[in-house]
Amino acid sequence: MRIAIIGAGMVGRGPAKAALSCRHDVVLAARHRDHAAKAADEVVARAAASAEEAVQGADVVVLAVPSTAIADVCDEIRRHIRQTVVIDPSNPLEPDPALVLEARMSVAEEVAILLPEARVVKASNTVLGARLTDPVVHGVRLDGFYAGDDPEAAVVAGLVAATAFRPLDVGDLRSARSLEHMAFLNISLNARNGWSWSSGWKLLGDTRGGSPGRLTAVRATPPPRRAWRTPRAGAARAPGRARRRRRAIRRRRSRARAGSRSSPGTPRGCC
Ligand SMILES: NC(=O)c1ccc[n+]([C@@H]2O[C@H](COP(=O)([O-])OP(=O)(O)OC[C@H]3O[C@@H](n4cnc5c(N)ncnc54)[C@H](OP(=O)(O)O)[C@@H]3O)[C@@H](O)[C@H]2O)c1
Repeated sequence: MRIAIIGAGMVGRGPAKAALSCRHDVVLAARHRDHAAKAADEVVARAAASAEEAVQGADVVVLAVPSTAIADVCDEIRRHIRQTVVIDPSNPLEPDPALVLEARMSVAEEVAILLPEARVVKASNTVLGARLTDPVVHGVRLDGFYAGDDPEAAVVAGLVAATAFRPLDVGDLRSARSLEHMAFLNISLNARNGWSWSSGWKLLGDTRGGSPGRLTAVRATPPPRRAWRTPRAGAARAPGRARRRRRAIRRRRSRARAGSRSSPGTPRGCC
């Protein structure tokens, strides 16, 4: 399988190594070409000159970029995304961190609007940077939660397992809101208490009811497809509406970008 990873930071390199260990063909891109080349050398993958070049022909795309860059990246790659699995590991950056709790939509749901042909899955966002390559705490394997509407996105479970986390399907794409809140809680606890940014999430107790790794296994029935969650259906009815929603997301994200530049915003050291 061909996997394109946009973003060559800490989070981009993690899935790159995991995908390579599963013998996938991996290509990395970043804002600066030399950053992508350096990361690609490190993990022994290929580097692309741009996000657009990286995603051409990709089966899976990972958006390992700050949430404030997601709208720009989606604009750049949209015309190459056809039924592609798009993994969103991002956590929302807001000028005032409390706004994360008030958001009416997760970043992953915004990605589904910005890339209407994509099969979007939220994954890896609940893991703090230090744990990305160290997922076992006192002998306990941490959980790698993921959420998405498409059962065929089970490929994500394989990638999560390759990073040595226990894949745990939490439901449809709306559940990405819970995952973003979980990440925010871990981040704020570390910031508030001066912890060492190494805590991670593990669901204890009996979780053996389904087979972890398959979206369909834990769902009795497929999630209802609602018009507001199905951008393609909405777009077909009102082409201008999809464009307006994309524009609103872009405006909100660029406000967040301006705010995070001018204020300390999300606490230092967090993701
Ligand atoms: N770090 C964590 O602990 C952690 C944990 C879970 C989730 N996350 C989430 O994962 C995402 C990435 O985090 P990170 O820590 O890896 O960030 P990072 O180290 O700051 O890396 C971000 C990468 O995105 C690239 N990028 C930014 N804008 C771009 C654009 N317009 N087009 C192409 N590439 C662009 C950057 O390129 P350049 O290198 O050229 O600047 C950089 O390689 C964030 O959304 C974060 O919320 C982070």
